[in-house]
Amino acid sequence: MIKLSPSILAADPLQMGKALSLVKEAHADELHFDVMDAHFVPNLSFGPSLLAAMKKQDADVVYDVHLMLSDPIRYVEVFAEAGASIITIHQEANDFLPCLEKIRSLGLQTGASLKPATPAETLRSVLPMLDRVLLMTVEPGFGGQKLMPEVLNKARELRLMGFDGDIEADGGIGLGNMQQLADSGINVLVMGTSFFKAEDPQAVAAAVHAL
Ligand code: DX5
Ligand code: ZN
Repeated sequence: MIKLSPSILAADPLQMGKALSLVKEAHADELHFDVMDAHFVPNLSFGPSLLAAMKKQDADVVYDVHLMLSDPIRYVEVFAEAGASIITIHQEANDFLPCLEKIRSLGLQTGASLKPATPAETLRSVLPMLDRVLLMTVEPGFGGQKLMPEVLNKARELRLMGFDGDIEADGGIGLGNMQQLADSGINVLVMGTSFFKAEDPQAVAAAVHAL
Protein backbone atom coordinates (compact mmCIF):
# COMPACT_ATOMS: atom_id res chain seq x y z
CA MET A 1 0.00 0.00 0.00
CA ILE A 2 1.13 3.54 -0.73
CA LYS A 3 1.37 5.61 2.45
CA LEU A 4 0.44 9.26 2.90
CA SER A 5 2.38 11.69 5.10
CA PRO A 6 0.59 15.08 5.12
CA SER A 7 3.00 17.98 5.66
CA ILE A 8 1.77 20.39 8.33
CA LEU A 9 3.90 23.11 6.75
CA ALA A 10 0.81 23.74 4.62
CA ALA A 11 -1.63 23.80 7.55
CA ASP A 12 -2.96 26.98 9.16
CA PRO A 13 -0.34 27.85 11.83
CA LEU A 14 -3.10 28.95 14.21
CA GLN A 15 -4.87 25.60 13.85
CA MET A 16 -2.20 22.97 14.44
CA GLY A 17 -4.40 20.93 16.78
CA LYS A 18 -7.07 20.78 14.07
CA ALA A 19 -4.45 19.81 11.50
CA LEU A 20 -3.45 16.87 13.69
CA SER A 21 -7.09 15.80 14.04
CA LEU A 22 -7.56 16.04 10.29
CA VAL A 23 -4.54 13.80 9.67
CA LYS A 24 -6.11 11.23 12.02
CA GLU A 25 -9.63 11.49 10.62
CA ALA A 26 -8.32 11.03 7.09
CA HIS A 27 -6.48 7.85 8.19
CA ALA A 28 -3.22 9.26 6.90
CA ASP A 29 -0.34 6.96 7.77
CA GLU A 30 2.09 9.53 9.14
CA LEU A 31 2.39 13.24 9.87
CA HIS A 32 5.25 15.01 8.08
CA PHE A 33 6.98 17.56 10.33
CA ASP A 34 9.38 19.89 8.49
CA VAL A 35 12.11 21.51 10.57
CA MET A 36 14.08 24.34 8.93
CA ASP A 37 16.98 26.36 10.30
CA ALA A 38 17.25 29.30 7.87
CA HIS A 39 20.77 28.06 7.05
CA PHE A 40 20.50 24.69 5.34
CA VAL A 41 17.39 26.10 3.66
CA PRO A 42 16.30 29.74 3.34
CA ASN A 43 13.34 29.42 5.70
CA LEU A 44 12.40 28.81 9.34
CA SER A 45 9.59 26.54 10.46
CA PHE A 46 8.80 24.64 13.64
CA GLY A 47 10.71 23.49 16.68
CA PRO A 48 10.44 20.62 19.15
CA SER A 49 7.83 22.29 21.36
CA LEU A 50 5.17 21.98 18.65
CA LEU A 51 6.06 18.32 18.14
CA ALA A 52 5.88 17.66 21.89
CA ALA A 53 2.45 19.34 22.06
CA MET A 54 1.19 17.18 19.18
CA LYS A 55 2.60 14.04 20.73
CA LYS A 56 0.81 14.94 23.94
CA GLN A 57 -2.47 15.37 22.08
CA ASP A 58 -2.00 12.15 20.09
CA ALA A 59 0.73 9.67 20.95
CA ASP A 60 -0.37 7.11 18.31
CA VAL A 61 0.46 9.17 15.24
CA VAL A 62 3.67 8.29 13.39
CA TYR A 63 5.64 11.54 13.52
CA ASP A 64 7.80 11.74 10.40
CA VAL A 65 10.37 14.41 11.22
CA HIS A 66 12.34 15.90 8.32
CA LEU A 67 15.33 17.86 9.59
CA MET A 68 16.46 20.48 7.07
CA LEU A 69 19.31 21.57 9.30
CA SER A 70 23.02 22.12 8.66
CA ASP A 71 23.90 20.47 12.00
CA PRO A 72 21.18 17.90 12.65
CA ILE A 73 23.35 15.97 15.11
CA ARG A 74 22.79 18.75 17.67
CA TYR A 75 19.00 18.30 17.56
CA VAL A 76 18.36 14.61 17.07
CA GLU A 77 18.01 13.85 20.79
CA VAL A 78 15.72 16.84 21.31
CA PHE A 79 13.35 15.69 18.56
CA ALA A 80 13.51 12.08 19.76
CA GLU A 81 12.52 13.28 23.21
CA ALA A 82 9.72 15.42 21.77
CA GLY A 83 8.11 12.40 20.13
CA ALA A 84 9.61 11.70 16.68
CA SER A 85 8.96 8.20 15.30
CA ILE A 86 11.15 8.67 12.23
CA ILE A 87 13.99 11.16 11.86
CA THR A 88 15.31 11.96 8.41
CA ILE A 89 18.45 14.03 7.88
CA HIS A 90 20.10 15.29 4.71
CA GLN A 91 23.06 13.64 3.03
CA GLU A 92 24.32 17.18 2.31
CA ALA A 93 24.35 18.20 5.99
CA ASN A 94 27.30 18.03 8.42
CA ASP A 95 28.25 14.80 10.26
CA PHE A 96 25.92 12.71 8.11
CA LEU A 97 27.18 9.25 9.10
CA PRO A 98 27.55 9.85 12.87
CA CYS A 99 24.13 11.46 12.85
CA LEU A 100 22.53 8.41 11.19
CA GLU A 101 24.21 6.24 13.82
CA LYS A 102 22.84 8.46 16.56
CA ILE A 103 19.27 8.21 15.25
CA ARG A 104 19.57 4.44 15.11
CA SER A 105 21.05 4.25 18.58
CA LEU A 106 17.98 6.09 19.89
CA GLY A 107 15.82 3.30 18.46
CA LEU A 108 14.05 5.48 15.91
CA GLN A 109 13.42 4.79 12.27
CA THR A 110 16.30 6.34 10.35
CA GLY A 111 15.99 8.27 7.12
CA ALA A 112 18.33 9.99 4.68
CA SER A 113 17.20 12.70 2.31
CA LEU A 114 18.63 13.91 -0.98
CA LYS A 115 18.18 17.33 -2.53
CA PRO A 116 17.17 17.17 -6.22
CA ALA A 117 20.77 17.49 -7.50
CA THR A 118 22.35 14.89 -5.19
CA PRO A 119 22.77 11.46 -6.85
CA ALA A 120 21.25 8.29 -5.37
CA GLU A 121 24.71 6.73 -5.58
CA THR A 122 25.82 8.87 -2.60
CA LEU A 123 23.64 6.67 -0.36
CA ARG A 124 24.79 3.25 -1.59
CA SER A 125 27.16 2.56 1.31
CA VAL A 126 24.66 3.57 4.01
CA LEU A 127 21.55 1.84 2.63
CA PRO A 128 21.83 -1.06 5.12
CA MET A 129 21.44 1.47 7.97
CA LEU A 130 18.36 3.14 6.54
CA ASP A 131 14.67 2.51 7.10
CA ARG A 132 13.82 5.13 4.49
CA VAL A 133 15.13 7.44 1.81
CA LEU A 134 13.40 10.78 1.33
CA LEU A 135 13.75 12.14 -2.19
CA MET A 136 13.18 15.86 -2.44
CA THR A 137 11.16 16.47 -5.59
CA VAL A 138 11.55 20.26 -5.15
CA GLU A 139 14.36 22.38 -3.69
CA PRO A 140 13.72 22.14 0.06
CA GLY A 141 12.54 25.22 1.92
CA PHE A 142 9.02 26.00 0.80
CA GLY A 143 5.72 24.31 0.12
CA GLY A 144 3.65 24.83 -3.00
CA GLN A 145 6.39 24.29 -5.61
CA LYS A 146 6.28 22.23 -8.80
CA LEU A 147 7.55 18.64 -8.75
CA MET A 148 10.78 17.91 -10.68
CA PRO A 149 9.97 14.62 -12.49
CA GLU A 150 13.62 13.79 -13.24
CA VAL A 151 14.07 12.96 -9.53
CA LEU A 152 11.91 9.86 -9.92
CA ASN A 153 14.80 8.04 -11.62
CA LYS A 154 16.54 8.01 -8.25
CA ALA A 155 13.77 5.83 -6.83
CA ARG A 156 14.31 3.32 -9.64
CA GLU A 157 18.08 3.39 -9.03
CA LEU A 158 17.61 2.77 -5.30
CA ARG A 159 15.35 -0.22 -5.98
CA LEU A 160 17.96 -1.54 -8.44
CA MET A 161 20.57 -1.21 -5.67
CA GLY A 162 18.33 -3.59 -3.69
CA PHE A 163 16.91 -1.05 -1.24
CA ASP A 164 13.61 -2.41 0.04
CA GLY A 165 12.88 0.17 2.75
CA ASP A 166 10.51 3.08 2.38
CA ILE A 167 11.15 5.55 -0.41
CA GLU A 168 9.38 8.79 0.33
CA ALA A 169 8.98 11.74 -2.03
CA ASP A 170 8.47 15.31 -0.87
CA GLY A 171 7.43 18.41 -2.79
CA GLY A 172 4.83 19.24 -5.40
CA ILE A 173 2.89 15.98 -5.04
CA GLY A 174 -0.85 15.76 -5.71
CA LEU A 175 -3.61 13.73 -7.28
CA GLY A 176 -2.31 14.51 -10.77
CA ASN A 177 1.16 12.98 -10.41
CA MET A 178 0.88 10.44 -7.57
CA GLN A 179 0.44 7.44 -9.90
CA GLN A 180 3.69 8.30 -11.68
CA LEU A 181 5.47 8.36 -8.30
CA ALA A 182 4.03 5.03 -7.23
CA ASP A 183 5.10 3.50 -10.55
CA SER A 184 8.72 4.54 -9.96
CA GLY A 185 8.99 2.61 -6.67
CA ILE A 186 8.07 5.39 -4.24
CA ASN A 187 5.76 4.15 -1.46
CA VAL A 188 5.40 7.18 0.87
CA LEU A 189 3.93 10.42 -0.48
CA VAL A 190 4.32 13.71 1.38
CA MET A 191 1.49 16.11 0.57
CA GLY A 192 1.35 19.61 1.96
CA THR A 193 -0.73 21.93 -0.21
CA SER A 194 -2.66 19.18 -1.96
CA PHE A 195 -3.85 17.73 1.38
CA PHE A 196 -4.38 20.73 3.66
CA LYS A 197 -5.72 23.06 0.98
CA ALA A 198 -8.00 20.41 -0.53
CA GLU A 199 -11.77 20.76 -0.25
CA ASP A 200 -11.92 17.18 0.94
CA PRO A 201 -8.61 16.01 2.48
CA GLN A 202 -10.19 12.66 3.45
CA ALA A 203 -10.88 11.96 -0.23
CA VAL A 204 -7.25 12.78 -1.06
CA ALA A 205 -6.08 10.22 1.51
CA ALA A 206 -8.53 7.64 0.17
CA ALA A 207 -7.22 8.23 -3.38
CA VAL A 208 -3.64 7.63 -2.22
CA HIS A 209 -4.66 4.42 -0.48
CA ALA A 210 -6.47 3.27 -3.62
CA LEU A 211 -3.30 3.50 -5.75
C1 DX5 B 1 9.67 21.48 1.48
C2 DX5 B 1 9.09 20.56 2.52
C3 DX5 B 1 7.84 19.85 2.12
C4 DX5 B 1 6.68 20.71 1.81
C5 DX5 B 1 5.87 20.06 0.72
O1 DX5 B 1 10.92 21.89 1.90
O2 DX5 B 1 10.04 19.59 2.90
O3 DX5 B 1 7.48 18.86 3.08
O4 DX5 B 1 5.85 20.93 2.92
O5 DX5 B 1 4.82 20.90 0.40
P1 DX5 B 1 3.96 20.76 -0.94
O6 DX5 B 1 3.29 19.41 -0.88
O7 DX5 B 1 3.00 21.89 -0.83
O8 DX5 B 1 4.90 20.88 -2.10
ZN1 ZN C 1 9.62 17.68 4.14
